[in-house]
Amino acid sequence: MAKITYIAFDGTPYEIEARDGTSVMENAVRNGVPGIEAECGGACACATCHVYVDEAWVAATGEPEPMEEDMLDFAQDVQPNSRLSCQIRVKPELDGLVVRIPERQG
Ligand code: FES
Repeated sequence: MAKITYIAFDGTPYEIEARDGTSVMENAVRNGVPGIEAECGGACACATCHVYVDEAWVAATGEPEPMEEDMLDFAQDVQPNSRLSCQIRVKPELDGLVVRIPERQG
């Protein structure tokens, strides 16, 4: 398990206990966190699950795979800490992870 804090665009924090092996996107959708659309259901094919990883967690979450990099080109307002949340797997090392949700998706 890992506690993940999602910070919505309006600044509202959502703290969620996430199971290992699930994705950061899945946990947001299942818990009604606003701002994650995830139109493709986690197939790395839509870029509407875009999040900004808190700077302190960029190393722990790792680099995006090439396929994710390509898909990120379709996201809005991409920054160096941008990730597609369906491609971040929950693991114990990510306990405390903070991600911010952009103003809009797609
Ligand atoms: Fe579609 Fe992540 S849910 S790319």
